[in-house]
Amino acid sequence: MTVRTTARHIDTVDLGDPATFAEHDLGAFWRTLRDTAPVHWNPPAGGRKGFWVLSRHEDIMAAYRDDVNFTSERGNVLVTLLGGGDAGAGRMLAVTDGPRHHELRKILQRVLSPRVLDEVARTVRVNTRRWIREAVESGGCDFAEEIAGRIPMTTISSLLGVPEEDREFLLSLTKAALSTEDEGVGEVDSEMARNEILMYFMDIVEERRESPGDDVISMLVGSSLDGVPLSDEDVVLNCYSLIIGGDETSRLTMIDCVRTLAARPEEWRRLKHGEVAVDTAVDEVLRWASPTMHFGRSVVRETELHGVRLQPGEIVTLWHASGNRDERVFDRPGTFDLGRTPNKHLAFGYGPHFCVGSYLAKVEIAELLMALRDFTTGFEQTAESLPIRSNFLTGFSTLPVRFLPDHSGMKEVD
Ligand code: HEM
Repeated sequence: MTVRTTARHIDTVDLGDPATFAEHDLGAFWRTLRDTAPVHWNPPAGGRKGFWVLSRHEDIMAAYRDDVNFTSERGNVLVTLLGGGDAGAGRMLAVTDGPRHHELRKILQRVLSPRVLDEVARTVRVNTRRWIREAVESGGCDFAEEIAGRIPMTTISSLLGVPEEDREFLLSLTKAALSTEDEGVGEVDSEMARNEILMYFMDIVEERRESPGDDVISMLVGSSLDGVPLSDEDVVLNCYSLIIGGDETSRLTMIDCVRTLAARPEEWRRLKHGEVAVDTAVDEVLRWASPTMHFGRSVVRETELHGVRLQPGEIVTLWHASGNRDERVFDRPGTFDLGRTPNKHLAFGYGPHFCVGSYLAKVEIAELLMALRDFTTGFEQTAESLPIRSNFLTGFSTLPVRFLPDHSGMKEVD
């Protein structure tokens, strides 16, 4: 059961504890922080260090932009920030700063640019339409398992050249690496899963060095930074980053999208009848889902915010879960409005580390919306969904749905 947390409880809410998010609706808590404590101290708890919490949209954007006072190189999510650092620091894009980040980002941007992804986007379209059509024909499915579990993993795997027979295995690892619906899976299991992903890619990288293909791994294997070829470890860490970054976030967004539309038939009808542009709808789906609840930084130079002095070495967390509901920026932030413009949501972050996979993620969500629009007249959730347990990601791991077919749309040839 979800407990509504009132303003009185702000000092007892521990944002480091995954159970906090599974068991509480934090809407009132976030609003109180935004209004009264925009730089809030989450005290040490459960053996974890304390950390700062930024909740206002404007402050989150400013912190994302500021790579002088803040660094990503000691981790960029609570689990690594609190765990003493990230093993990929200075080598994996998300936890590298400065000129090396800039150069590495150029390499990854090249492989994730709209032009290069043209072919991948076509595959996303074909697969999504096929899977939605099959689910509609069969009357329903567990959308989380049978569709959302397949779209991003298939996409990112074909981009990386991961063989089809390994994808199921990798999916189970990425699920265990970041979040789980199972209380019995702890941090040790997650760490083992993360290591297994790294070992898996180590083998593939060796293979591609011997016989390169036209996939992203082969391209990374052949890339250099400042004239020095990327090492196997560098390639592996960035593959890890792409698979982790590219799978779960998009999957959770799609699940949230279908769940939210099923509960709001009036918004669904606006989409179905072409009253809202698909691209505009995609942004609202992202704002609403905000699948990554936070990212974080470490303070490198003393800096002041709203009269609070942040000291070098301290952890600062930036909460999309709150910034994307900030009434200072969004009109009626608690309303899911597929026609919302402007929509300056923070789902992809901001500044130098802005999500490098945002185009791909948007293609996946847009194709989902279009397939639903074309092949169904509506859909409903048929049983409760299971929330995941994480202090980083939010969403559901199951979503049983029943689809009503749109027979005229189904007749069309893609
Ligand atoms: C960075 C969110 C999809 C790969 C980020 C950041 C956010 C984010 C908030 C900034 C992290 C920071 O500043 O520390 C999302 C969401 C997605 C999504 C919500 C889907 C709905 C993807 C996809 C890929 C990807 C599909 C890969 C194909 C990355 C990478 C970075 C990143 C490599 C690091 C960029 C850098 O540090 O320069 N993502 N992401 N993401 N994302 Fe995504």
